Amino acid sequence: MNARQNIYTGGALATLAIIVGLYAGGVFDYFGMQAHTERKMAALRSAPPDPVVSAASAPRPPNDLAGDPPRAELTAPAAAAGAGVAFRPPSEADLPAGEFGDVIRRGREIFIDTPRAAPAYVGNSLRCVSCHLDAGRLADSSPLWAAFVSYPAYRSKTKSVTTFQQRLQGCFEYSMNGRAPPLGAPELVALESYAYWLATGAPLNPKIAGRGYPTLALPAQRADFARGEKVYAQNCVLCHAADGAGQRTQDGTAVFPALWGSDSFNWGAGMGRISNAAAFIKANMPLGLPGTLSEQQAWDVALYMNSHERPQDPRYTGSVQGTRNDFHATDDSMYGREVAGKVLGASGAPKPFKPFKPSKESRP
Ligand code: HEC
Ligand code: HEC
Repeated sequence: MNARQNIYTGGALATLAIIVGLYAGGVFDYFGMQAHTERKMAALRSAPPDPVVSAASAPRPPNDLAGDPPRAELTAPAAAAGAGVAFRPPSEADLPAGEFGDVIRRGREIFIDTPRAAPAYVGNSLRCVSCHLDAGRLADSSPLWAAFVSYPAYRSKTKSVTTFQQRLQGCFEYSMNGRAPPLGAPELVALESYAYWLATGAPLNPKIAGRGYPTLALPAQRADFARGEKVYAQNCVLCHAADGAGQRTQDGTAVFPALWGSDSFNWGAGMGRISNAAAFIKANMPLGLPGTLSEQQAWDVALYMNSHERPQDPRYTGSVQGTRNDFHATDDSMYGREVAGKVLGASGAPKPFKPFKPSKESRP
């Protein structure tokens, strides 16, 4: 073993120890997260209905030039019809038999094991479930059932009406730093079938409670890098590592996904929006302890996370400032901004697509 492999093995063992610990603590049930969902659903059911937020009193979403989707497309769950009654997707035990059931299962597999199950289209080690927790079932974690009943929809990101499959294409291009499967590709059909099945019994309603993330009020104090760094060190570093690269098992599976760097989502992704990241983090992180950060801490750590380098925006126009003007001209994006003497996004043209290879060699 050379030094690099030694370090690697050490890291893998540490990861394993953490996972085992979390399992034992009941905090982290790797593929199921059933217990967490149950608790969350129970809390939702017993909570008194939230006061309805009127469009006028809700904080205005930041300029959503390139949102994924723009926050304006999503409404606080509290504003949804029937607030307080969370939709429950069917349980795995009810998966239909036969060929349709097989395709749904395939979709679920792609969702939870993306680099391995859809290798031709994935450029990093993230998985759909890295950001859509509990296999796309968890309310307030941008669940698939809520997405399914919300398309076709007009999106300012594409300036056109987007179908569900087209929406999925965007996830591959930006969040997975990969390339879009063609419309009708078996991967998209499988994902669409899985989402359709999860939405069994849901109303056709883009304002369904639990969609996206609960809207966060704008921070009392302007989000701050130095405060965010402290929040990160205290609450995130254990799993996502000091360099933001997360931790992988020896076979390349991202158990703790990369928050920035070459193995993370690219600059065009929705999580690159500070408001999206803050809302996701507040509702879902630290994993197993959701809701424990204050709103201010969530904004600060989201700004900190998105003030680091990541793969180029695939819509790169040839210059950072041009790309910023076209797609990131908002306070909600750090792209094209200077942090610690370096302009974020100044890494030149996007690298040609390289499928992610689940092996230790590909560790950045
Ligand atoms: C890096 C995190 C990340 C990864 C990985 C990711 N997504 Fe997303 N996804 C997001 C964010 C952020 C949004 C916008 C969230 C919001 O406000 O609803 C989103 C939105 C979506 C939506 C639309 C939701 C809605 O309600 O309109 C779908 C569908 C979706 N993602 C599917 C996928 C699929 C399929 C994959 C894997 C191929 C994937 N995502 C991977 C972060 C991610
Ligand atoms: C106990 C370990 C743990 C801690 C602590 C933790 N996370 Fe996570 N985080 C995860 C895991 C695991 C996932 C992926 C979820 C999955 O695979 O089910 C994740 C996913 C994410 C994602 C979406 C995926 C990506 O790569 O962008 C973000 C953003 C994130 N975490 C941010 C944070 C922040 C910020 C903190 C600190 C406030 C934090 N996490 C603390 C384990 C953790």
